[in-house]
Amino acid sequence: MANLDAGAQEYFATDHRECDTVWAELESAASNPPRQAALWKSFEARMLRHFSMEEEVLFPAIESATGMRGGPVAVMLHEHEQMRGMLTEMARRASTGDFEGVLDQGDTLLMMIQQHNSKEEGILYPIAERALSASWPALAERLRAYPVAG
Ligand SMILES: [Fe+2]
Repeated sequence: MANLDAGAQEYFATDHRECDTVWAELESAASNPPRQAALWKSFEARMLRHFSMEEEVLFPAIESATGMRGGPVAVMLHEHEQMRGMLTEMARRASTGDFEGVLDQGDTLLMMIQQHNSKEEGILYPIAERALSASWPALAERLRAYPVAG
């Protein structure tokens, strides 16, 4: 489980890995619809939780600490919206038991996630790590209010 005491970069990058792990479990759960349904729910919840933690806590803190407006945060927010759209479509397929369709669309989503995560981990989280070192304990406390579901 991602460690809140380790700092912004470590916490959010580890959370990326944990979302990827749930996806890999879903991919390997073929022909087991109840397990696919449970893993889909878990993946969707973890992705939405990650977006919420960034949008509600991390990104505003970066903007207020750096004075940065637009730029990398705006790009990340736009990509979150695109990924949310794909998750909504995947949820529609999952609700009809079409996990093959979920996995097909997931291939595209996962490519987008990889590119997005590498930008965050290479650019935005290092900025956060420097800009938020003093305020991280307070931010970490707020992030404890985002439990992992299930
Ligand atoms: Fe992220």
